[in-house]
Amino acid sequence: MIIEPKIRGFICTTAHPDGCAVHVQKQIDFVKSHPVLENAPKRVLVIGASTGYGLASRIVAAFGGKASTLGVFFERAGTEKKPASAGWYHTAAFEVAAAKEGLYAKSFNGDAFSNEMKEEVIATIKKDLGEVDLVIYSLASPRRLDPATGQTYKSVLKPTKSTFTNKNINTDKKEIDLVSIEPATEEEIANTVKVMGGEDWKLWIEGLAASGALAKDFRTIAYSYIGPQITWAIYTDGTIGHAKLDLEKTARQLDEQFGAGTALISVNKALVTQASSAIPVVPLYISILYKVMKSKNLHEGCIQQMYRLFAEHLTQKPKLDAKGRIRIDDWEMREDVQAEVAQIWKEITTETIDQISDFAGYQKEFYHLFGFDFPEINYHRETDPIRPIPSLSLQDQ
Ligand code: NAI
Repeated sequence: MIIEPKIRGFICTTAHPDGCAVHVQKQIDFVKSHPVLENAPKRVLVIGASTGYGLASRIVAAFGGKASTLGVFFERAGTEKKPASAGWYHTAAFEVAAAKEGLYAKSFNGDAFSNEMKEEVIATIKKDLGEVDLVIYSLASPRRLDPATGQTYKSVLKPTKSTFTNKNINTDKKEIDLVSIEPATEEEIANTVKVMGGEDWKLWIEGLAASGALAKDFRTIAYSYIGPQITWAIYTDGTIGHAKLDLEKTARQLDEQFGAGTALISVNKALVTQASSAIPVVPLYISILYKVMKSKNLHEGCIQQMYRLFAEHLTQKPKLDAKGRIRIDDWEMREDVQAEVAQIWKEITTETIDQISDFAGYQKEFYHLFGFDFPEINYHRETDPIRPIPSLSLQDQ
């Protein structure tokens, strides 16, 4: 099959298996070109392991820390007629690379919110590894079926106080326009917290603990975002921000249950991922941020961020801010970076997108998410869309 990108707004409905493999290999190469992580956790479970921050976390744990990893995700397998989703191809490539280095890797494709998934993962940990030392919770999902009630909740990306109007980039037309979003209802806020808050994270940890699948000094970490004032109305003060507050509250509850310092929150940098491209205003902010951070030699992608997280926090005593959070968004939030971003934000128009923002860099990274725009790949050549993930049983492929 010849696979080309098919972009629909903020999503690409196709993915290229060989390009996704290049994307994974580049991240592995980055990690392997850095010092091996001494004291890294050796048995790691990553929930949301196939793309973005979760994939990078799994790569750092495995190739930087020599860990056995288990990864949970929700992806689509390829058929003769249709390519798989990007996260499927990433995982297929990750497992092949891990096997070459003799690293244990098992993957689970299905709904992380379900009881069945939790039971299957816990049974595998008990059978293969006994326990895990680190649980990384990196889910980004638009909906959650609560197994306790059978009800499905949908998350929304909306402000919560008043109608929010700000600059936005129309990524299809490459135009700056204004976006206006009505505030969420109380129910929409509660539903977003139900999907993206800490409830499911806690269920995972309690389930693992009840089965004796957690090492005595285990730790768990979830990812959050703060960002600058321009994005607060839609992010920090918006529905997703409410969910992140709930995630932080959950970390404190888990600390009470399992001991201080067990549950960590890492505030990460804004980066192009499938989840962040869907948030209004964020693609324009990221395009400007990349321009400024690249000019100051401060730019990082998911893999650089996750390597720093492990090297500076997860293999030694983590350094925390006043609210007890790890801050690897420190370079993004530097005063000089944010002052320049704010100035460009004021000035930018459709005519100046290429001069004063790095929209080209944003777009390139967006294509990379789906395995496109890698010079190493000849996209006019036929390729096999069916790529097995070795650890998945045949009926799951
Ligand atoms: P992503 O969209 O790249 O990855 C989401 C992962 O969740 C994928 O592996 C996907 O398969 C999995 N997933 C989704 N629904 C699932 C389900 N029902 N069952 C099993 N797996 C499921 O997202 P990204 O951006 O890496 O986000 C991960 C975390 O990092 C989120 O908590 C996000 O808020 C946070 N974060 C993201 C930032 C960004 O700029 N992208 C910045 C700071 C934090």
